[in-house]
Amino acid sequence: MTTTARSETLAVKTAAKPSVTPDRFATSLGVLTATLGSAVGLGNIWKFPYLTGENGGAAFLLIYLACTLLVGLPIIVTEHMIGRKGRGDAITSLRRLAPNGPWWLIGASGVLAAFLIMAFYSEVAGWVFAYIFKSASAGALSTDPATTSAAFDSLVTNPVLSLFWQWFVLILVGIIIMIGVSKGIEATTKRLMPVLFGLLLVLCVRSLTLPGAAEGLTFLFKPDFSKVTGEVILVALGLAFFKLSIGMGTMITYGSYYGDDQNIPVNASRVVFADLAVSLLAGIAIFPAVFAFGFQPEAGPSLLFITIPAVFASMPAGQVFMALFFVLTGIASLGAQLSLIEVPTAYLIHRFKMSRKWATIITISSLMVVGSTAALSNSLLSHVKLFGKSPFDLFDYVSSNILLPVGGLFLALLAGWVLRYDFFKEALSNGGKLKNERFVRFLYIIVAFVTPLLVFLILLNSLNLF
Ligand code: PFF
Repeated sequence: MTTTARSETLAVKTAAKPSVTPDRFATSLGVLTATLGSAVGLGNIWKFPYLTGENGGAAFLLIYLACTLLVGLPIIVTEHMIGRKGRGDAITSLRRLAPNGPWWLIGASGVLAAFLIMAFYSEVAGWVFAYIFKSASAGALSTDPATTSAAFDSLVTNPVLSLFWQWFVLILVGIIIMIGVSKGIEATTKRLMPVLFGLLLVLCVRSLTLPGAAEGLTFLFKPDFSKVTGEVILVALGLAFFKLSIGMGTMITYGSYYGDDQNIPVNASRVVFADLAVSLLAGIAIFPAVFAFGFQPEAGPSLLFITIPAVFASMPAGQVFMALFFVLTGIASLGAQLSLIEVPTAYLIHRFKMSRKWATIITISSLMVVGSTAALSNSLLSHVKLFGKSPFDLFDYVSSNILLPVGGLFLALLAGWVLRYDFFKEALSNGGKLKNERFVRFLYIIVAFVTPLLVFLILLNSLNLF
């Protein structure tokens, strides 16, 4: 090949290459699905419906909505803005934007929180994947909750099965993370999010067409203001944090993969509303069916793994719907876990100039070790209690009740009082290209004044200080 021909080939290759670096999301749709994939997870499928039902139905929903708009949306926008301006992982971005002072510690607490959440979240996700297979083999399908309860116990008290399913999930998520931001995270969530919405709609139609479904809707949506107490408001705030994956640098990390032309406030608003839609649809898919077959709505794992299989066993073609339900829940948990694992992985890549492959291997293998203490909490390590809690409960408590609110509080203070309005104006209008000044000013006022106060209250509550 002549020199001219070679340089022409090179020119064509360069032109054909998409104009993104490997550590960016390539398309606007990918930005949306990856971010939404992080928000949507186990939080929508059991936490949200259960808390709504138990805490006053539509009354709780209204408070949760207010928390989502006054805390969730402003913090998610703030994190995306910090990530895109800082162009680094949670710690690096904060070091770059606020070099004076220990603000980078928010990122450090985020890396720790991501690690701790993954340690127990991957175990619950492991049970979900185990149940996809259990529904196919009909082992856990029975109309008698005592039988489904025994089936669940036989899984969680078995150390080998518990570890196997947790590690299976960790390796699966690790492989996607290793493939990269655009080809791994973006491509996976782009494919899975539409499947998730499709499956959810199928399950809603099935649930709503059962005789006696109305009672479930009443449970979920009838406002009962007598149940609203200070504690309930704080529960709604805590849910808004966990649901939107905020307060721990996940959204800073994802923000660093946003292109300069992304409209951050619009994208974040879409994510917040779509996440809310998934939660509502999950409630509509679950509660009418639970009531139609005369079951009681219960919390957490028991609703997912004991009541739901009994509900499916009671309906025609229940095995198929149960498999669909757990596939849906598994998909939802994957997007959330990708974002959780990306937080420490991105940190290792930046801080130690590591390849993505090695950063993922180190993150996943450390999670296998730390997570195994959560996986074995119901079997070999059932006698181990730290501060009166099993490792599983301790990881959940420290991350959700302490690290996320602390992170959220300091992020709002940093953005509102150190970075300030001019930073918001420039960053969120893409250097003046977007005409969104009124919205940005409104957001700024909320971030600087309302959010820190509300978050301060959640924090006092988590520390049982009032
Ligand atoms: N938002 C996820 C859910 O609702 O299941 C959980 C989660 C993911 C929390 C990512 C925190 C996070 F960084």
